[in-house]
Amino acid sequence: MNAALLEDLRRIVGPDWVVTDWQAMESYMLDVTALPIRPVPSHDVVLVKPANPEEISRILKLANERRVPVVARGGGTGVVGAAIPTLGGIVMALERLDRIIEVDTENLMVVAEAGATLEKLLKAVEAANLLFPPHPGDEGAQVGGIVACNAGGTRAVKYGVVRQYVKGLEVVLPTGEIVTWGGKLLKNNTGLDLLQLMIDSEGVLGVITKVTFRLYPRFAGTATLIVSFDDRHAAIRAVPVILQTGVIPLALEYVDRDVIQISADHLGMKWPAKKGTAHLLVIITGSNDEDVYEQAGIVVKACEKLGVVDTVVAETKEEQADILKMRSELYSVLKPQVADVLDMAIPPARIADFLDAVDEIGKKFGTRIITYGHAGDGNLHPHLLLELHKRGLLKAVKDELYHEATKMGGVITAEHGVGKVRLKEVSMCVDEKQIELMRGLKKLFDPNGILNPGTAIP
Ligand code: LAC
Ligand code: ZN
Repeated sequence: MNAALLEDLRRIVGPDWVVTDWQAMESYMLDVTALPIRPVPSHDVVLVKPANPEEISRILKLANERRVPVVARGGGTGVVGAAIPTLGGIVMALERLDRIIEVDTENLMVVAEAGATLEKLLKAVEAANLLFPPHPGDEGAQVGGIVACNAGGTRAVKYGVVRQYVKGLEVVLPTGEIVTWGGKLLKNNTGLDLLQLMIDSEGVLGVITKVTFRLYPRFAGTATLIVSFDDRHAAIRAVPVILQTGVIPLALEYVDRDVIQISADHLGMKWPAKKGTAHLLVIITGSNDEDVYEQAGIVVKACEKLGVVDTVVAETKEEQADILKMRSELYSVLKPQVADVLDMAIPPARIADFLDAVDEIGKKFGTRIITYGHAGDGNLHPHLLLELHKRGLLKAVKDELYHEATKMGGVITAEHGVGKVRLKEVSMCVDEKQIELMRGLKKLFDPNGILNPGTAIP
């Protein structure tokens, strides 16, 4: 790493916040992408930990002048390598910008710095008796990262993804200007919506430093149902039927029994459903217990005709939290056996057809494609196992799955994003003109291409 650059960085953030020792920075060079496909980080990097937007602005101005790549990172919970620096340059950790600035109970908004963890945000919001509805899994994720990746997760069926909650942003542009968009506003039609452009920009257009999220009142009542079937296709066919009843569950997840059992065993927990091989996890919220049970009754009744073998209702907070935990930890528990976790979105009513296609492809290649996910969002995660990688079949299987999804009007990624590992695949569902527009926007924001090169835009 260039000595003059290091000197300048030390001047900006102070010598304690410039790290050059590989061992001390190694954990900042990864995310949770499955190993066989995880991009390899460059060793020609320096890690900086700025304290505020002004320091970030000075770093970016410097990097822009010298044409040095910069990768901003949050909690490193991504699964497509977006935060891994594959070229030499600067890795910028946002962790020192970790304040929850304000929970505004009058406007129902929370203002947080980008490096605050999701866990910290949720605690602060809960302490004010309010709710941040989306739950993108790993609470070690940071606020800036969940916005830069437009995180999804299990609660999107009823409340949508992170994008729906972002009302204000402070961003440092690659050329060093600090800009703010929006604020504590529910409506804002002032010109082109550049705030929305930043959401899911995967760190290629600017560095997010502060976020204003909309909040909601807490759920008065919740129940978690596990609806069990003996056949995964029957289970998945129940998904659109449930959605057509008019009940909008908070979460509507699909899991195989033997797969969720791996997570339960790993966590030393008990999966409460005793019967069935295929489960729908349905979380219902309402204005009071009566409302919740009425909705639960409608869901159970709708499923009855479809071959349900059992339904378990978890009522206590603890039971419900355990069920969600077993589900949320699935990927990290399975990860040692996984070569790639896919993330298709299909129109929700086609989800059964898609699962049929997944099984056909699994059969054709002689492998089990473990598949679970956010069935109510039409978002499934087929897992390609290490043995496929060892047989050199990873790409062939993935291409067939992508082909099936796009044929049904789907896309190759619903919530994980493009990062560095899906770049080549974007063109399977995005046409050349759109890619050209993306490249033009990138050039406008980042004329020298310093921010997170090789990410998100093919
Ligand atoms: C999940 C991650 C893999 O749904 O997105 O568990
Ligand atoms: Zn997911």
